[in-house]
Amino acid sequence: MAQWVSIWRAAQLAGVPRAALQRRVRAGEIEENDGMVSTQSLLALYPQLQLETAGLADRVAQIRDEAFGRRVRERLLPSQEVLAQRLFRQSQELADLQRHLQRYHALVISLRDELRRHQQQAGGDDARLLALERELTSGLARVLATEPVDALHVMDDMLKLISAQVTLRPSGHQFTVEGHDSLLQAGLRAGINLNYGCGNGSCGICKVRVTSGEVARSGHSDYPLSEAEKAQGYVLACVHTAASSEVTLETLEAGGPADIPLQQITATVRALRPLGTDTMLLHLQTPRTHRLRFLAGQSVTLAVADGESAQARHPVASCPCDDRNLQFFLRRDAEDPVATRLFEGRVRPGDPVTVWGPHGEFTLAGGSQPLVFVACDHGFGPVRSLIEHALSLDAAPSIALFWLATRADGHFLANQCRAWSAALDPFEYNLFSDSDPAAGALQVGRALRADVFQIDCAFYLAGPVEFVMTIGAQLSEAGVPEAQIHTEVLP
Ligand code: FES
Repeated sequence: MAQWVSIWRAAQLAGVPRAALQRRVRAGEIEENDGMVSTQSLLALYPQLQLETAGLADRVAQIRDEAFGRRVRERLLPSQEVLAQRLFRQSQELADLQRHLQRYHALVISLRDELRRHQQQAGGDDARLLALERELTSGLARVLATEPVDALHVMDDMLKLISAQVTLRPSGHQFTVEGHDSLLQAGLRAGINLNYGCGNGSCGICKVRVTSGEVARSGHSDYPLSEAEKAQGYVLACVHTAASSEVTLETLEAGGPADIPLQQITATVRALRPLGTDTMLLHLQTPRTHRLRFLAGQSVTLAVADGESAQARHPVASCPCDDRNLQFFLRRDAEDPVATRLFEGRVRPGDPVTVWGPHGEFTLAGGSQPLVFVACDHGFGPVRSLIEHALSLDAAPSIALFWLATRADGHFLANQCRAWSAALDPFEYNLFSDSDPAAGALQVGRALRADVFQIDCAFYLAGPVEFVMTIGAQLSEAGVPEAQIHTEVLP
């Protein structure tokens, strides 16, 4: 008999992105019922799973063996306490199911006995009673016959133990909690803009209400929740994890830049890595207890002090899902005092850098349109942050990148594009070169026109003003509504 699993779990079982599975649901290739798909239709769509699940025991053994390594165990498996709680919940459900089955069985047996008695009283020649009794006996035999196990269902049960599904209300966003992650860490990793402050249980900003399922404490907290809040089911997301395989939380999420407070943090230079003769990767790390909350695509002001203070605004080039490790692509620029000090070797690993922000509105607009990113040179920085965020969200049906290089450093992170393209089905990229940003923009515009203008996409453009203006004008001429064009002009 087919079992039903959520689309989210079905994607996990099939090993495909959720957006890819949803695309096939929209195309009518797989039947969906209230967010659930049957394991039978999943097997029909991905027949290779049949073969894979045949080796289920091997796969379980493989997961067990891989989990032997401490780092993998921490990433994949929750703590022993949380595992025990999830196992306990699952055992309770199983016990309930067994009790119900036993009662149904007893009911059917007593009905059959009753029928036999009536049959005897009727002299054994009531054809309808006889047919009914035969039907009941053969139905019972069918139910008790050993059927092949639905291997996907078995895998689903196993996954429920090692990873929990969290649903947020009222947004309906979903994410998984794996390993030792707190609810907050898992949500951020999935690209969800949860409210939070300190990240260590002292400010209370990450308060959420548990409306179904169970959570367990996963860290120490100094913030005192009132008795009334506890009674209503409020917990701190940064120091709790999922203790049941499904949890529903009630919480508000940041809807846009206006919901993110300005922050000032003293971070440390973790690394400096040249990506070309005139491009440097700056990797900052914030204190564990004071991370930067920002939206993908936003910028911050960086300030370094070596005798005199210097500051400049730069887009963050990494994903907010890792709010402790901030990356920036700085180009050699005499008018940028921070970049100048970096290239002169006056800033070194271990030095403090003040981070002030975030600023800017160049963020993902939401929705489930195909996404098209168009960058010129270091415009790739905020675009990279947006792409990583979009990949975490796993909601866009497709992602395309058009990147123009006008400087000698060229496409300083082309290997990143190749890696995305190799790993992700709905990602494609096109690289262009032209020393003149406006002429290059015309070249990119022609490619865009040939490729994606007909599609209802959201466009994100980042680069120097002449590049952004030229591409923006071409998109408008082609009839793309203003609301679908998002721009970031960089010096
Ligand atoms: S983020 Fe401050 S208490 Fe959770």
